[in-house]
Amino acid sequence: MLLTGEDREYLVEPGEELGTDLGVLEVPEDVEPGDTLETHLGTEFRVRRLRGPDLFHHFERTGAPMVPRDVGLVIGETGVGTGDRVLDAGTGTGVLAASMARAGASVLTYERNPEFADVARENMALANVDERVEVRTGNVVDEVDDLATERFDVLTLDTGDAPAVVERAPELLVEGGFLAVYSPFVETTRVVVETARESGLDSIVTRETIQRELDVDERGTRPSTAPVGHTGYLTVARRE
Ligand SMILES: C[S@@+](CC[C@H](N)C(=O)[O-])C[C@H]1O[C@@H](n2cnc3c(N)ncnc32)[C@H](O)[C@@H]1O
Repeated sequence: MLLTGEDREYLVEPGEELGTDLGVLEVPEDVEPGDTLETHLGTEFRVRRLRGPDLFHHFERTGAPMVPRDVGLVIGETGVGTGDRVLDAGTGTGVLAASMARAGASVLTYERNPEFADVARENMALANVDERVEVRTGNVVDEVDDLATERFDVLTLDTGDAPAVVERAPELLVEGGFLAVYSPFVETTRVVVETARESGLDSIVTRETIQRELDVDERGTRPSTAPVGHTGYLTVARRE
């Protein structure tokens, strides 16, 4: 649940005691969206149901979380949804893993940093997707032999060593399954594309993920002069 009020937002769980600069607030076990809660100093907060973009803004951050736009591209380009089994690495903050679970998929995600993995598990519980996301602590590259005995509908990679998994993607994916690799750098992207070609994947496409915000004010409407929205390169491929 999300608490909003006084230009503040807090992600909370039922039963939690929240300390804020506006007083202490007890979140009831039976809290519902639409409720109004009050701190012990009398400040009111509204209760909202959590939506996808809230994960990016309110999860505890470890590995750089994927921005909502790029989450949308991954989900749109792979069609990940209900009934799909997804292999994801690295978990990082867990925004992508949680978002795919919210879209209905079961996600197995690997994080090699044990502290990051612990935080990600807590984030999954906050997002109420912990039954659909299994966070395993470990290096996904070391696990590929075991994982290749299973088959996944979608494979999502957001790691610098993604090519080491891409070369095994045909063994990990079902027929027609999708691979999506996100990289902030051209150099890694090139190796990902070459590796995907060598491994025999099909329909390989790379796009820069970029978006321009518009400023709309009394003088007129134009692209914002704030920093441009490059975040990375998304390579999508498919097993024949
Ligand atoms: C950019 S973050 C991933 C963010 C994530 N997609 C999200 O939306 O929150 C990359 C994470 O991958 C982890 N990592 C890097 N290489 C890995 C590997 N081979 N196996 C497992 N985790 C790995 C890093 O520790 C880091 O936390």
